[in-house]
This record gives sequence, structure tokens and C-alpha cells, in this order.
Amino acid sequence: MEAADPRRGLAVIAKQVAGCHDCPLYKGATNPVPGEGSATAEIMFVGEGPGFYEDKQGRPFVGASGKFLDELLASIRLDRKSVFITNVVKHRPPNNRDPQPDEIAACKQYLDAQIELVAPAVVVTLGRHSMQRYFPGEAIGRVHGQPRRKDDLIVVPMYHPAAALHQQTLRQVIEADFARLPDFLAKLRGEPAARTEVPPQLRREAAAAAPDAGSGTAAATAAESDAQQMRLL
Ligand code: URA
Repeated sequence: MEAADPRRGLAVIAKQVAGCHDCPLYKGATNPVPGEGSATAEIMFVGEGPGFYEDKQGRPFVGASGKFLDELLASIRLDRKSVFITNVVKHRPPNNRDPQPDEIAACKQYLDAQIELVAPAVVVTLGRHSMQRYFPGEAIGRVHGQPRRKDDLIVVPMYHPAAALHQQTLRQVIEADFARLPDFLAKLRGEPAARTEVPPQLRREAAAAAPDAGSGTAAATAAESDAQQMRLL
């Protein structure tokens, strides 16, 4: 889609989503949830699909996992107005079930167009379904927090914030992955590394908590992961 002003383009997409019948999800939804945030965001977060509260309000990540996402953003001195937040499907799957491949495929056009308009430096995928859009078959436990190139995009896969709500130990992993984002972005911008060092204790805890984090020791994994982070790909 061609649009001089990305905000206008995003508004057009929101309208299209509101009238979309390309998959059955619209039938059970109260509101479409196209996504929101800065049209010129450096970071775009892509979750899975709207839940109960998102469906009621027509806004992404406003329930419990949204509250945690807000905290994670605040921890790196960002707020939701400065990033763009959306999902792989824009209508709520019934009873919060996983979005199905045909639903994700039907919604792809909207996410593709949003990414093209916003042109973020980095796409952060939140959860399995959004990661699989870029890296099918990958294990989140193996790749979380590591920036990877996918065609013209740089994608950082992360756990879904809701995972931290259900598995307390994952909280440190997500926090550590978020804590590395500012330095990574600075590096992309070509700025000197104003490294906000992840406290060693947090790194150790994060590495220890990561499921299927690989065969190395937790400490080795933490140290490697920091090095990989700056190397990119
Ligand atoms: N979970 C998601 O993946 N997206 C939302 O918008 C809310 C919860």
C-alpha cells in the first residue's frame, strides 16, 4: 500500500480490518483490534490475538498481559505511544484459543501493510504464533531475545508476556530480553553503545529460568547470549 502519511495508511488498514470477513473470527468478536501506537515507531510489537478485554475495548494488550507489557516498556523508558503494538490476528479467537493457520494467513495482508507503513527498525514478536510467522519450527526457548534477520526485517523473538503471568520464572527472562533492546537499537542507529548492562544476577536468573535453553550451563548461556545480542545474526 502506498501512502505518504503512515498515519493515514494505518487508519485505512483499521477500516479494512473493521469490515474484514476473510476468516470467521469477526463473527464472534465485539470489536476489531487493528493495533495502535506511533506510526513512525522504531519498535513494533506483534502479539498473537486480542483477548477478552482487547475485544471489549478494540485495543491491543489492555488486559493483564498488557499491564505487564506496559511495565516492560517502562523498564526501558518507553511507553506504548512511542511504539506500535499489534497482533497476528485482529479479531478475538473464541475463548482465547490459539489463532489457526488459516486465520493468521487471512490476516497477513494487514500486518504486512502495517509493517511496511511504520517501517520499524525492529519487530519484536511476542509468543510462539507471531515468532512462527518469521521462523517456522524454531523453539522460542532457543532463540528468545536474539535479533535475527528475516528478509528486510530485523526480528527479535520474545516470550509472550502472558507466559510470565502463568510461569513466574519466565518473568526474569522477558525482563532481561527487554533490558537488552535499548543497546541493540542504539547499535542499529550507529550510536556508541550506551550499554545498560543487565545486572549479572538477573542474567543468571534469566538463563536458569529459560526452558530448553540449550545444553550449556546456565551461566555460559547467559554470557553467550549477551555476546550474541550485539553480534546480530
Ligand atoms: N495477548 C495478545 O497476544 N494480544 C493482545 O492484544 C492481548 C493479549
